[in-house]
Amino acid sequence: MPTGWSPIRRVAYQFMAVDPTNLSIVVYPDPVLRRKAEPITEIDENVRGVARRMIELMHEAEGIGLAAPQVGLSWRMFVTVVPEPDRSESTPGAGLIYINPEIQVDSSDLVSHEEGCLSLPEIRGDLRRPSAVTITALDEQSRPFSRSSDEFITRVWQHELDHLNGVLIIDKMNPLDRLATRKAVKELELDAKEG
Ligand code: CO
Repeated sequence: MPTGWSPIRRVAYQFMAVDPTNLSIVVYPDPVLRRKAEPITEIDENVRGVARRMIELMHEAEGIGLAAPQVGLSWRMFVTVVPEPDRSESTPGAGLIYINPEIQVDSSDLVSHEEGCLSLPEIRGDLRRPSAVTITALDEQSRPFSRSSDEFITRVWQHELDHLNGVLIIDKMNPLDRLATRKAVKELELDAKEG
């Protein structure tokens, strides 16, 4: 959020009607990716429309998760693919919506695994994250829900929650991968400057 924005302006920003068809995935170093996103105070048709569009964009880009800042909105919401054990409950091509999510770490064991990000094309690297977490969030009907897991989906939750706090994989990557991807990161910064 730019400094100098009044709370009233923030609310106005959030409830500004968004045309979901205009949304597209924004790429680093877009400043929205570095802002701390604001809680969603009312889950209405506007928010649901954005969430549906985010699921569509995630599938189009063959991603497994997408956070609202990645479509230019500083809202605390992300979507993921449906994790394996839940797949039977859902229709093909569906996604799950997490609004105002919070994560509690259940195991301090750190596991290293490679990650990529739709906002950092061509950049991949290993990150260490807690192996077991519980996520609590609201669904698109404002119903609270909670899931605990030690499967791969916990990595997706943690990656997407980082986005809501302005944190990217390049901040947490192991030093060797950070070095190896430095050139690609610089190129993205250069592309943005050249427009
Ligand atoms: Co990402």
